[in-house]
Amino acid sequence: MGATARLVPLEGLAPESGLCWTCPVPAVCGPGDSVAEPQRSTLRLFEDRFGAFVPDVRLGEFGRSFFRDTGFVADYERFDRQNYRSLDRKFALSELLPLALRRPGELAECGVFRGASAFLVAKAIRRAGGGRRLHLFDSFAGLSAPEESDGNNWEAGNLACNRAEVAANLAAFDDLVIFHEGWIPDRFGDVADTRFCFVHIDVDLAQPTRDAFDFFYPRMVSGGLIVCDDYGFETCPGARRAIDEFFADRPEPIVHLPTGQGFVMIEARDTAI
Ligand SMILES: C[S@@+](CC[C@H](N)C(=O)[O-])C[C@H]1O[C@@H](n2cnc3c(N)ncnc32)[C@H](O)[C@@H]1O
Repeated sequence: MGATARLVPLEGLAPESGLCWTCPVPAVCGPGDSVAEPQRSTLRLFEDRFGAFVPDVRLGEFGRSFFRDTGFVADYERFDRQNYRSLDRKFALSELLPLALRRPGELAECGVFRGASAFLVAKAIRRAGGGRRLHLFDSFAGLSAPEESDGNNWEAGNLACNRAEVAANLAAFDDLVIFHEGWIPDRFGDVADTRFCFVHIDVDLAQPTRDAFDFFYPRMVSGGLIVCDDYGFETCPGARRAIDEFFADRPEPIVHLPTGQGFVMIEARDTAI
């Protein structure tokens, strides 16, 4: 498409037969093909093909400016050029970080995989002036065993990535990143006396999600953020349930983002724990 391309919504769509639909060609599209000029039309038809496979999927608006945030997209593509499934989540994470970094405290992530989200957290710490550490908790052997509430989307050992590879991916930040390798919650004791302004929880399963909220929530500073990557995903029903149960009798509302993430901002409190 050239620089003059325009998106034209189709109106008057009507079913014909089978999977065929018809609609009048919008007037702005100009003349169509003819036998003499079979390539004359400049019209391109874009179809929401998700809808054919997953009827309840609704694609969002085109032309969002973050698609063109070249610095952010380059950071994403360091870790994944195959798909952009979590591009919007990673962007939301990046945008929430400066909010939390206005508060004192350290940062943590539970569930690191290849380090893509940890990279963004570490970068935000440095942008905010450094001086804080990012604590990374992961088995580096993949998921633990799912429980019944997790459904059957996951198996133990999924999403394994060895620590050496992650450390190499995060080498630019080795002054601020600390690895706590082991099954959650076994290594949480390493940071028992630390206070946090930001915790990212992304472990897909109920048990480590529950354990992470149990441990980190009382160690958060006022105005700190806990972001869960899995909250709104049908593939992670156990994580969702664990979080809903945790906050059922707590004051913070859970903000469910359209990206699938959920986050809470910690209420004002005198002291943690
Ligand atoms: C979805 S991946 C994390 C993705 C990463 N946050 C990102 O956005 O790039 C889930 C991670 O959780 C870890 N994990 C899951 N269950 C765990 C448990 N019980 N203990 C420790 N790590 C666990 C896995 O090893 C895996 O690295």
